[in-house]
Amino acid sequence: MPIITTIEDLRVLAQRRVPRMFYDYADSGSWTESTYRANSSEFAPIKFRQRVAVDMSNRTLASTMVGQEVAMPVALAPTGLTGMQHADGEILAARAAERFGVPFTLSTMSICSIEDVAAHTTKPFWFQLYVMKDRDFIARLIERARAANCSALVLTLDLQVLGQRHKDVRNGLSAPPRLTLPNIVNMATKPRWCLGMLGTKRRYFGNIVGHAPKVADMSSLSSWTAQQFDLTLSWKDVEWVKQRWGGKLIIKGILDAEDARLAVASGADALIVSNHGGRQLDGAQSSIAALPAIADAVGSDIEVHMDGGIRSGQDVIKALALGAKGVYIGRPFLYGLGALGEAGVTRCLEIIRTELDLTMAFCGLRDVRKVDRSILLPGSYPV
Ligand code: FNR
Repeated sequence: MPIITTIEDLRVLAQRRVPRMFYDYADSGSWTESTYRANSSEFAPIKFRQRVAVDMSNRTLASTMVGQEVAMPVALAPTGLTGMQHADGEILAARAAERFGVPFTLSTMSICSIEDVAAHTTKPFWFQLYVMKDRDFIARLIERARAANCSALVLTLDLQVLGQRHKDVRNGLSAPPRLTLPNIVNMATKPRWCLGMLGTKRRYFGNIVGHAPKVADMSSLSSWTAQQFDLTLSWKDVEWVKQRWGGKLIIKGILDAEDARLAVASGADALIVSNHGGRQLDGAQSSIAALPAIADAVGSDIEVHMDGGIRSGQDVIKALALGAKGVYIGRPFLYGLGALGEAGVTRCLEIIRTELDLTMAFCGLRDVRKVDRSILLPGSYPV
């Protein structure tokens, strides 16, 4: 068993165990990947103020996100095709998150369906929605999320067109995947992954195949999704979703202060400062650089969350200090899943928890809910 002490350790192991096509799908950004890289590299220049001789006993990481209790303010981000990093990936990740006491967000584009995840968990999870042209299908998805007892809806607004990811094109990632000779040979070198896939029936987009009209298999799925993303999406549709859903609503994909104010006006409970993990607009600001101005623009009118580039507990606390009430991790948990399945997702969360807890102690903090900019070195962070 390899020694795993960092998220990078999990990434290296996942790269060995997951077929290249699916590993690259997770570990890539759009075009030159400049925003993808900036998301994590721009945490580094932000510096803490180290404090000494202050009471650091009885520290607590417990907090809330959209009014729900969380063991630490770190949720699992919605990620498509998670069941391709590891067989039954969404179920395993949801179970790890549930045991840990943090939210799991199921993507519309997941392999395991809403019902699959609900059947294998006992606590409510969150569901992420894309608005597509077929509003009846979307209305049914919302009903399915409600029936599965989902406790928040995350509405993603930054993927009406798709940022090109060169690696996916080269690897032939499509629905169904192009089984070229190099892909087959590469898969054959990943026996654990292959055995897992042979042992499950969940290999398709479970929320869509068999649910969307005339989408009965992978080939029809491909043409359906290609023409379903709605280019006319507007804040009116957000209102429509809010009314239909009626529960906690989180708007995902905000990178601009003006859009943040519109999110407040939409009546959503939270917004996520996010550039989709650097997978959409290459050349956009990193999430951590965009966060302070957005937090200042909306004040306490809405809960501010963020994601993008978080690879440690130190990164989590920097985001909290700059105005986030909670954060999400995408690739870190996918690496854990690809490396070690459910145990890998748990390991990922443990690593982040330990780093977060010890960093709080070094900064002289006892309560994660009290983190603010005063723990950072002035001049070292974006304003
Ligand atoms: C994503 N992301 C995403 N977002 C979303 O709203 N719906 C989705 O289906 C997906 N799919 C997806 C797949 C993969 C492989 C990745 C890596 C990401 C974006 C995701 O929710 C989140 O914004 C980023 O992953 C955050 O950045 P980090 O933590 O991965 O750096």
